[in-house]
Amino acid sequence: MNIIKAKDYDQLSRIGANIIAGLISQKPNALLGLATGSSPVGIYKELVAKYQAGELDFSQVSSVNLDEYVGLDPTAPQSYLQFMKDNLFDHVNMKNYQLPNGLATDLEGECVRYNQVMADLGGIDLQLLGIGHNGHIGFNEPSDSFTKGTNLVDLNDTTIDANTRFFSSRDEVPRQALSMGIGDIMKAKAVLLVVSGADKRDILKAATTGPITPAVPASILQYHPNCTIIADTAAYGE
Ligand code: F6R
Repeated sequence: MNIIKAKDYDQLSRIGANIIAGLISQKPNALLGLATGSSPVGIYKELVAKYQAGELDFSQVSSVNLDEYVGLDPTAPQSYLQFMKDNLFDHVNMKNYQLPNGLATDLEGECVRYNQVMADLGGIDLQLLGIGHNGHIGFNEPSDSFTKGTNLVDLNDTTIDANTRFFSSRDEVPRQALSMGIGDIMKAKAVLLVVSGADKRDILKAATTGPITPAVPASILQYHPNCTIIADTAAYGE
């Protein structure tokens, strides 16, 4: 694991955006794996700024997102499709973006379809990740085994609590999601995990220096051959 220490969230975001921009300039038709949540928002802002400055072209770039809630209207402000439109897709010239369809009537079939989408696009060049307080990546919650492909997840209480901030009440948070599997994340050619804030310090330490265990799903990244973590001082410590 390559760990980059950033002094604060702004620097973390600039470094992350530069890594992604560097990939796109080397490989204009890169397949990006994208994440939602607070951690990547600054990176998306930086990427939009680079696009607006004429420094970056997304016209051949494709993307697949990690996850989507089950049963939430895609136009709802909390849906991950809407999040991605608000933060990135509506502001750059990327046309080919994909998320799991959380409204599919056949959710197991949707998992199969999404795995095929990723395979057809030739595999993820760079997967952007945040980490949950419980060590989840994507919505792969702590468990007794690592998930392989896209799967239907029952969100656990920690995740429901953490995501309540995006809804008007805890009851409104969907209880299920579709998520890429740990196997999909591990197959990405490069992984970029961004971690910000003192509240992530303990889980960052457990994931990077603790035992590799499905009880801390992100710990598997210790085995990834090309994993970069950008952590700010608050998350990493002095
Ligand atoms: C988001 C995702 C989640 C988040 C994680 C951290 O698509 O899959 O794993 O990355 O919950 O969320 P934030 O960044 O909001 O702390």
